[in-house]
Amino acid sequence: MSATMVSKTPDSPEKSENGTAPVFSVRGLWKVFGPKADRIPGSAEAELSAEELRSRTGCTAAVRDVSFDVQPGEVFVVMGLSGSGKSTLVRCLTRLIEPTAGELSIDGEDVLGMDKNRLRNLRRHRAAMVFQHFGLLPHRSVLDNVAYGLEIQGVGKAERRAKAAEVVEKVGLTGLERRRPGQLSGGQQQRVGLARALAVDPEVLLFDEPFSALDPLIRRDMQEEVIRLHREEGRTMIFITHDLSEALRLGDRIALMRDGGIVQLGTPEEIVDSPADDYVRDFVRDVPREQVITVRKAMRPAEGDEATDGASVAPGVTVAEAIEVAARSGGPVRVVEGSQCIGVVDHQRLLAVVAGVEAGVVPA
Ligand SMILES: Nc1ncnc2c1ncn2[C@@H]1O[C@H](COP(=O)(O)OP(=O)(O)OP(=O)(O)O)[C@@H](O)[C@H]1O
Ligand SMILES: [Mg+2]
Repeated sequence: MSATMVSKTPDSPEKSENGTAPVFSVRGLWKVFGPKADRIPGSAEAELSAEELRSRTGCTAAVRDVSFDVQPGEVFVVMGLSGSGKSTLVRCLTRLIEPTAGELSIDGEDVLGMDKNRLRNLRRHRAAMVFQHFGLLPHRSVLDNVAYGLEIQGVGKAERRAKAAEVVEKVGLTGLERRRPGQLSGGQQQRVGLARALAVDPEVLLFDEPFSALDPLIRRDMQEEVIRLHREEGRTMIFITHDLSEALRLGDRIALMRDGGIVQLGTPEEIVDSPADDYVRDFVRDVPREQVITVRKAMRPAEGDEATDGASVAPGVTVAEAIEVAARSGGPVRVVEGSQCIGVVDHQRLLAVVAGVEAGVVPA
C-alpha cells in the first residue's frame, strides 16, 4: 500500500459484520529503525526497496504502512520469512517497540496516547505474550512461574497459587507443579509459558513463534493445545509463525508479510485459492489444496433430483473431508446450509480441487 492511501483510511475503527468493535485496530503503522527514522514514513524514501532504503539512509523499515483489524475471538496469524517484520509488528501492538508513525487502538482506545500507567495496565492485564524461548524464571517452581504475572499484578499469594493451579491443570502440567523449568522438556516448558500467559486472563494472547524451538511431534501437540484452548475459551489470539502449515492450521485469517508490508490478508482458503501475487503463489504452492478449500468454493448448482438425494455436508467442510464422504456414498454430495441444499460436489469437482485445475476445462 502506498503512503498516500493512508490518509484515505477511516480514522475510527471499523465495525465488523456482527457490530462488535475490533480488539486491535491498526492504521498506517510504521516502525523504522535507524537515524532520523521518523522522517521516513510518508516521504519519497518510503517507496524505496528495503535494500535501497538501507543503503541511502541507513534505516530499516521493519514495519511499513500496515493496516488491519483483529476481531474479537479470532486467531489472527502473522506469517512471513525471517526478517519480514513479524516480531516488530506484534511488539508494536503493546508498544514494547515504539511505533514510528500510524494509528493503533485496542477496544477503541488509542494505544499511542496511553500514559505509563495505562500502558502497564495494557501489558499486565489485557494482552499477554508467549515467547519462543519460553522466558521462564529458572529458580522458581512451575507453579510460581505460572503465578508470576499475577504476582506482578499484586494478587495475594493464596489467590495467585489457586489460580495458577487451575491453569496448570488446564494446560496438562498436573503433577509437575514443584519442578524447576530446567527439569522439564521443551514442550513442557512451553506449556508453562502458555499457562503463565493464561493465568492473568488476558483479553488477547500474543504468540511470537512459540513452538519453533520444539520438535515436530511436540509442536503438533502444542498446536492442538492452542486449538483446544481457543475452542473452549474463544480468546482472541495473535499468532506469529513462519511455518505455513501452522498458519493454515491455526489461523482464522492470515496476514502475510514481506519486507515490513502486508502482501495479503485473508482466510487460509482465500490465500491458497487466490494468491495476491507471485510471492504468495510461491509460498502456498505446495499446500494440499483439498485440506484448505471448502466445498462452498468447489460446489456447482444441483441438477434434477441431486438437491434431495444422497449424502450431505456443511458448506464449511473441506474438500478432503467431502472426498471421504463421496468415497463412502459413491454419488455426488449435497452441500446443505440450514436445511437448504445450496449446491453439490461430485467426483469431478472434488478431483479438480486436488489437481488445482478448473473442473471440466480440457487443456488445449
Ligand atoms: N532493534 C533493531 N534495530 C535495527 N533493525 C532491527 C531491529 N530489530 C529488528 N530490526 C530489523 O527489522 C527487520 C524485521 O525484524 P523482525 O525481528 O521483526 O523480523 P521477524 O519477521 O520477526 O523475523 P524472525 O522470523 O527471524 O523472527 C529485520 O530486517 C531486522 O534486522
Ligand atoms: Mg521474530
